[in-house]
Order: sequence, then C-alpha cells, then structure tokens
Amino acid sequence: MDVCLSSVQQAGRLEEGLDAPGGWLEVEKKEVVQKDSAEGPPGDSNEIEPSLQSLQKFVPTDYASYTQEYYRFAGRKIVIQESIESYGAVVWPGATALCQYLEEHAEELNLQDAKILEIGAGPGLVSIVASILGAQVTATDLPDVLGNLQHNLLKNTLKCTAHLPEVRALAWGEDLEQNFPKSTFYYDYVLASDVVYHHYFLDKLLATMVHLSQPGTLLLWANKFRFSTDYEFLDKFKQVFDTTLLAEYSESSVKLFKGIRK
Ligand SMILES: C[S@@+](CC[C@H](N)C(=O)[O-])C[C@H]1O[C@@H](n2cnc3c(N)ncnc32)[C@H](O)[C@@H]1O
Repeated sequence: MDVCLSSVQQAGRLEEGLDAPGGWLEVEKKEVVQKDSAEGPPGDSNEIEPSLQSLQKFVPTDYASYTQEYYRFAGRKIVIQESIESYGAVVWPGATALCQYLEEHAEELNLQDAKILEIGAGPGLVSIVASILGAQVTATDLPDVLGNLQHNLLKNTLKCTAHLPEVRALAWGEDLEQNFPKSTFYYDYVLASDVVYHHYFLDKLLATMVHLSQPGTLLLWANKFRFSTDYEFLDKFKQVFDTTLLAEYSESSVKLFKGIRK
C-alpha cells in the first residue's frame, strides 16, 4: 500500500481560486454559515457549489454525519471537522493533552523545522499544532480516514505555516521498510496519541514505533489508560524504549511518555 496525498500539489490547485470572490477562503466563510444553519454536510448548498468542487476532494464522502469542533492552541483557533462514524475522525483526549504539551514545550523541544511523523493521526489536531509550531509534519493513518485528515490539515495550515504538512497512508506493521525506508526517512519526533486501546494491532503498532525510531528520534506517546491491555502494551513498550513519564493529566487519565529506542 502506498497512498500519498500531496498537500503541495493539491494546495496549489486550491490556491488558484483562493483569494477570488467565491474562492476557497470565501467558501470557508460561507461553509461556517451553512454549518451554523445545521443544513447537513458540505455540498448541500447550491450557492457555494462551484468552489466546493475543489474543496470536495478533501471531504470524506462516506461519512454521513459531520460536526465541527473548535480548539485553541499555539495562539490559533483550529477547526476540526469530525464524524462520529469512525474512531479516526474524532479528536481523542490524548490528542489535546499532547497538543498542550507541544505548545508549552515548543522551544525546549526545538520544533522549528523539526521533522515529525504522526502515526494514527485521525482528524489531525496534533499534526496541525505541530505544523503551526513550525515543524515539517507527515501525518499518517489508514487510507479511509486520509480524506478527512487532509481536509483538516489544509483548512488549518494553508498559508499560515512554514511547512505545509504531508499526508500519507501508514497501516501499522505493513510494508514499513518499503514505504518508509530507514535510509531516507529520518524523524526527529514520532508522535502518537490514543493509538493504544482495545484493538488487534498492538504488536504491529509497537513494531511501527520501533521501525520509525532511529538514533536521535524521540517518540512522544500520549494515551488515555483504560484497560489492562493498555498497561500490557506499556510493559512491552518499556522493553524496547527507554521510557520517561513526561506528564499526567488526571482529569482525563492521559499519560504522556517519551520513548527513546534502546
Ligand atoms: C483512537 S483514534 C486516535 C486518533 C488521534 N490520534 C487522536 O488522538 O485524536 C486511533 C487512530 O489510529 C488509527 N488506526 C487504527 N488502527 C490502525 C492501523 N492498524 N494502522 C494505522 N492506523 C490505525 C485509526 O484510524 C485512528 O485514526
């Protein structure tokens, strides 16, 4: 599997009509009005149809229900389009905790121009905040959520970040060396929020974390701990990563760990 949505190419197409009346920014303003009037998913209104044709490329067509959530990190208001139909289309508590940490420690982490890959990025909040803080971000997830992820990334980073984030498919444990060869893909940070819950890919997830972590890579993993399997994963994680608990958010039961490959 090698699906890669090139933000740069697609953003180029978007920018053609960006500042024109009815262009992308214009659509955004109208889209808010449309959403406020609870008319349903984007694309319902004839009034904005021409410009939506380009925007539609970034909107998942298989999600029947949409909502928008608003966040504020790194001095910016961030709008996330969510759908309750997929785990990967809603923001989880680990994501807001990790964003808070990145925002509060941006200088110390030296995020400016840092190379970052996020696994299981979902709707993209963490990747957006990392981009706003100056990093070069690759947001990855399973193919079916990439459309929504791309939509949110572009909506929140176009023309306001030094590096436009990239979106790529990455299924944990699958074709890692083929799609992300160690010789060419080096990351300063690997980010992961709420990727550990009750699913069948925990070993493949750990293998992915290991593959992406080279000497000098810091893995930042924020997770809400719920099940005994979450703690079992943590035990395995500690066997392969030197692990430091960086922060604990008692109100959400989220723990944030730093891992350095042993
Ligand atoms: C609970 S959601 C967390 C989303 C986001 N990180 C957040 O915290 O808001 C888990 C994410 O992992 C992704 N995921 C689940 N299984 C996966 C797999 N086998 N390979 C790659 N991604 C996977 C899901 O698509 C989803 O986006």
